[in-house]
Amino acid sequence: MIKLGDVFPDFKAETSRGPIQFHEWLGDSWGLLFSHPADFTPVCTTELGRVAQLQGKFEEKNVKLIALSCDGVDTHRKWIEDIKAYSKIEKFAYPIIADEKRELAHLLGMIDPDEKDAAGIPLTCRAVFFIGPDKKLKLSLLYPATTGRNFDEILRAIDSVQLTARYRVATPADWQHGTYCMVLPTVGDDELETLFPKGVEKLAMPSGKDYLRMTPCPEKE
Ligand code: BEZ
Repeated sequence: MIKLGDVFPDFKAETSRGPIQFHEWLGDSWGLLFSHPADFTPVCTTELGRVAQLQGKFEEKNVKLIALSCDGVDTHRKWIEDIKAYSKIEKFAYPIIADEKRELAHLLGMIDPDEKDAAGIPLTCRAVFFIGPDKKLKLSLLYPATTGRNFDEILRAIDSVQLTARYRVATPADWQHGTYCMVLPTVGDDELETLFPKGVEKLAMPSGKDYLRMTPCPEKE
């Protein structure tokens, strides 16, 4: 099972847009690999359509998209026409990996033993892997087949991962890009002025401890 901070496997795969070698395909970009159980299923159709609608937002963040399921390339290509019709989109511009033998599903720990195909073979769950330009895993999620994902939340989490890669901050519950951030506990008080020229506010707590240090979002205009 791949862990946060591990180098993501550099696999070869067939996709709806031709063969890829994963690291080469990623190049210097960030990558979002997300799996789903099967083609021609209702929740998956809504999910892949939503991601296609949001593709411009992912591209603005320099994030390449790639989906995966246990069906083959021909099935993926036929299903894409349904996704476009359902989502009322002209363009479906990201690849879907064909993992019919479940090789990647096993390698990446994406098998859901409760969801099986007609032959009784387990399918992939709804996994999300967010990978950095250094090819290391930065964030992962596992959802069951019966629960569709919220891709606005995934965009929000990407904003946090990218911001916190650049500044020594963490983002609080329900954070949205541009709002207040928390100074990392590992930053010493003597570093605050240099690292956070916009200022730091320390919240008084009943414990008397100074750990809630808020600073304006470093990238807000
Ligand atoms: C769906 O995409 O609707 C779905 C796929 C597998 C199991 C349950 C739901």
